Amino acid sequence: MLRRLFALAGSLLLAALCSTSQAATATPDTSTASSEMAEGKVLVAYFSGTGITAGIAKDMADLLQTDLFRISNVQPYSVADMAYDEKARANQEQKQADFRPQMVGNVSNMEQYDTVLLGYPIWAGLAPCVVLTFLERYDFAGKTIVPFCTSGGSPLEPSIPELQALTPQAHWLVGKRFESHASRDDVRAWLQQLNLLGAHTSAAVLDQTAALTQSDQAKAPVFNFEQHSVMLNSGYEMPINGIGTYSLLGDTCYDAITTALKTGVRLIDTAYMYRNEEEVGRAIRDSGVPREEIFVITKLYPNQFFQPEEAIEQALKKLNIGYIDMMLLHHPGHDDVKAYKAVEKAVAAGKVRSIGLSNWYVEELEEFLPQVSIMPALVQNEIHPYYQENNVIPFIQQQGIVVQGWYPLGGRGHTQSLLNDPVITKIAQAHGKSAAQVILRWNLQKGVVVIPGSSNPAHIKENTELYDFELTAEEMAQINALDRNEKHDWY
Ligand SMILES: Cc1cc2nc3c(=O)[nH]c(=O)nc-3n(C[C@H](O)[C@H](O)[C@H](O)COP(=O)(O)O)c2cc1C
Repeated sequence: MLRRLFALAGSLLLAALCSTSQAATATPDTSTASSEMAEGKVLVAYFSGTGITAGIAKDMADLLQTDLFRISNVQPYSVADMAYDEKARANQEQKQADFRPQMVGNVSNMEQYDTVLLGYPIWAGLAPCVVLTFLERYDFAGKTIVPFCTSGGSPLEPSIPELQALTPQAHWLVGKRFESHASRDDVRAWLQQLNLLGAHTSAAVLDQTAALTQSDQAKAPVFNFEQHSVMLNSGYEMPINGIGTYSLLGDTCYDAITTALKTGVRLIDTAYMYRNEEEVGRAIRDSGVPREEIFVITKLYPNQFFQPEEAIEQALKKLNIGYIDMMLLHHPGHDDVKAYKAVEKAVAAGKVRSIGLSNWYVEELEEFLPQVSIMPALVQNEIHPYYQENNVIPFIQQQGIVVQGWYPLGGRGHTQSLLNDPVITKIAQAHGKSAAQVILRWNLQKGVVVIPGSSNPAHIKENTELYDFELTAEEMAQINALDRNEKHDWY
């Protein structure tokens, strides 16, 4: 129990520490040698909440021409159950060491398999509880188990000991964490490393047929501080300050958007995952503000990437405001190129005006951009004084892409410490502004669009009053020096 609680608390930190690299340490009784891989029939068994691990597992079974078993709960997880909220069902279940949700279906003849490739997403630092149900159900004595996972950054290794403890007579090999955007070739390479694929299946060259119109001369977008806007590479103008709606639900969201529009805010950021597109749309329709004056961003979540056309139609229907100004892909994930291409078609059809990405960093962009036709107009990532992304922002801007920051004020649980940072409060006093305004202005002067979320009318107004003062180069440098590379969320 304690270990699960600890893992939950530590998962954010782990995600931050491990966001780009995979820890390589093996648990003591785990072999690494691929020569130890058992001969014989392989089963790919996986659990997947939002479809990312599913895509990788399917590629695996397909490449191996072997059987695939989906581990599913009798009571499936809804989007709300998997919300980024400690109170949501999945996170609550992860805290209970002995919780074993009932499983649907059955592997009819487990005896025939010598090796099980076991996949799952990392939830609160560990394997989802239903994976434990699966391991308890069968006799794995003498079988080889090779775990793999996907995650927002947390490593695989901390999830292994409790799984091994349930299968003391199984032979565990060191597994692998896949990036959420892992390609079929990444999967193939791992299977080869495990000696599960013959030499004839060596990695195929990626089919990068689509050429980008990107050019070396592309210039960083310049903010117009008179108009409070920026011209996107898609040809549309976008406000440089707006309101974020993450965690604003129902009437709270409707009221916040209504207040924001009355206050002059014209940029609104929502997402399928926030479960408030309907309220955002209704507040816009009721506001009396001409549609053309408002810029609305929404996002497709990775579990929608496999049927992107439907997901786009769903967003259009929920928002019900005619067109969508910008659609982002919420995270890298399986089929993200396919989803992006569907948004490209929606642009051609006039349903969506601009396309962007969220939570894409340098490596992800380098891999993704050559595969698509329309250059993204915007990339939205976590950016605040304690997590500045100083190496990522210029990379994005130099390609003519606008950068937008989420969690500009540090995010839930961190806002107060950031707003009370002595460097920031001192600068705020000097300008007669609030700490929040100083942080938002610092973003703008770095060329980062801000979308602070709030339901408090006073804060909503305060967050718009960013244009009657300017930070000096020295003040900018002082805030730049606060960077701790401290990510406040896992994606
Ligand atoms: C309830 C929940 C908890 C999560 N906890 C973590 C975590 O602690 N660390 C992490 O890196 N990612 C975390 N994630 C992100 C998932 O591991 C990641 O998105 C994964 O690729 C999803 O795979 P799936 O689509 O197969 O479910 C969490 C996701 C959910 C829904």
